[in-house]
Amino acid sequence: MPPADSHSRSCLAIVLGAGEGSRMGSAQPKVLHKLAGRSMLAHVLTAVLKAGADRIVVVAGPDHESVIAEAKAIAPGAEIAIQEKRLGTAHAVLAARKAIAEGYDDILVVFADTPLVRPQTFARMREALADGKNAIAALGFEAQDPSGYGRFIVESGTLIAIREDRDASPAERAVRLCNAGLMALAGQSALALLEAIGNANSKGEYYLTDCIALARAKGLQASALSVAEDEVLGVNDRMQLAAAEAILQGRLRAKAMLEGATLIDPSSVTLSFDTALGRDVIVEPHVVFGPGVSVGEGSLIRSFSHLEGASVGAHATIGPFARLRPGAELGPEVHIGNFVEVKATQVGAGAKINHLSYIGDASIGARTNIGAGTITCNYDGFAKFRTEIGENAFVGSNSALVAPVRIGAGAYIGSGSVITQDIAPDALALARARQVEKPGWAKAHREKNRK
Ligand code: UD1
Ligand code: CA
Repeated sequence: MPPADSHSRSCLAIVLGAGEGSRMGSAQPKVLHKLAGRSMLAHVLTAVLKAGADRIVVVAGPDHESVIAEAKAIAPGAEIAIQEKRLGTAHAVLAARKAIAEGYDDILVVFADTPLVRPQTFARMREALADGKNAIAALGFEAQDPSGYGRFIVESGTLIAIREDRDASPAERAVRLCNAGLMALAGQSALALLEAIGNANSKGEYYLTDCIALARAKGLQASALSVAEDEVLGVNDRMQLAAAEAILQGRLRAKAMLEGATLIDPSSVTLSFDTALGRDVIVEPHVVFGPGVSVGEGSLIRSFSHLEGASVGAHATIGPFARLRPGAELGPEVHIGNFVEVKATQVGAGAKINHLSYIGDASIGARTNIGAGTITCNYDGFAKFRTEIGENAFVGSNSALVAPVRIGAGAYIGSGSVITQDIAPDALALARARQVEKPGWAKAHREKNRK
């Protein structure tokens, strides 16, 4: 087993995600619900990797193929252990028995439904084991409303037990220092402690929390660490999902602003876990950034724009009311205006698509101007085709570009054209009916119909 990069101690992380999550009222496993554009499981796996875990075991339920697929996508090296029956958190940890038995220094037990824990906190938990005095480091918090949580039972400064809410005495229920659920266990003693846990409690479950009292009975020591409540929010229902989203958005907005972006009304901007805003980017109110967006220095993202899987160059202007879909790659100083949708298209420096357009599966050369209402007809009902437009071209308003089609550099298209054939560089293309004018027709028409 390889030692961790940043620690001399080896670390096994066990991520519990086998719970049914019935309070979510969802067809989807709880841990796949998303926060800031990716699953709770992905958030937890990423944090655990950053905390220097050498090995990860994800404990999933027997019907959780989608959970397994997500774990593999985020942490390809992660192993999966199936907990056949949901008999409690200690039973779930023991689904990873084989890995535990291999003898890691630190064993981190984390919950996939507790998605906001920072890597530093996992590191602190590991730190608490480093001098060899503690067999367990348990993470706790002062709860606004402790109901439902396990309580830390502390005597003369020492954590002696964790009592589950439903098994607690009235005096114990009054305790506000609660169990966040996550623990670091010293590898030496972990397996013996876990195997000693029974299920003689009101729920008939194997509680991980019982390992504290068991450790004490063996003369081992447990340490209680404390964090802010908003870091250890557990998501059991959709209200808590929304609360977690709000906390995470707050963190992401603060990070974006500290890195030099202006958010005029931060609370109205939705970011994703990976949104990358350059220095001096200005984001107006009511903008949504889906996953995979980067915006270059000095660009302006105007109100009511929606961006996803798109890169925007420096000093560009987007919106208001623009939609950038996956594969939109915009160069510097590009202008995308209102009611313009761009998908899978490269747009060269200084090009403009300012009004009411759909541009998909295309490439547009530098400084080209796409007139109002231009549509790339990229789909024939079966396949998608490309539209290629050179530099310095001019596409007149209300043109339909029927792909596949190539428009040469410097070419000019008359307004209202339906372009079905390639256009040579610097040519003028007109593809519309010639105008007919009948002198006096309108007046005669009015008089004939007037009674
Ligand atoms: C747990 C703690 C409680 C703590 C609370 C914090 C125990 C016994 N209780 O209670 O002290 O205050 O978290 O939120 O540990 N899971 C499985 N298999 C199971 C049961 C659970 O994988 O058989 C997983 C769930 O998917 C979840 C995590 O373990 O990720 C916690 O389970 P949950 O049932 O939500 O525990 P709580 O009752 O909230
Ligand atoms: Ca829970």
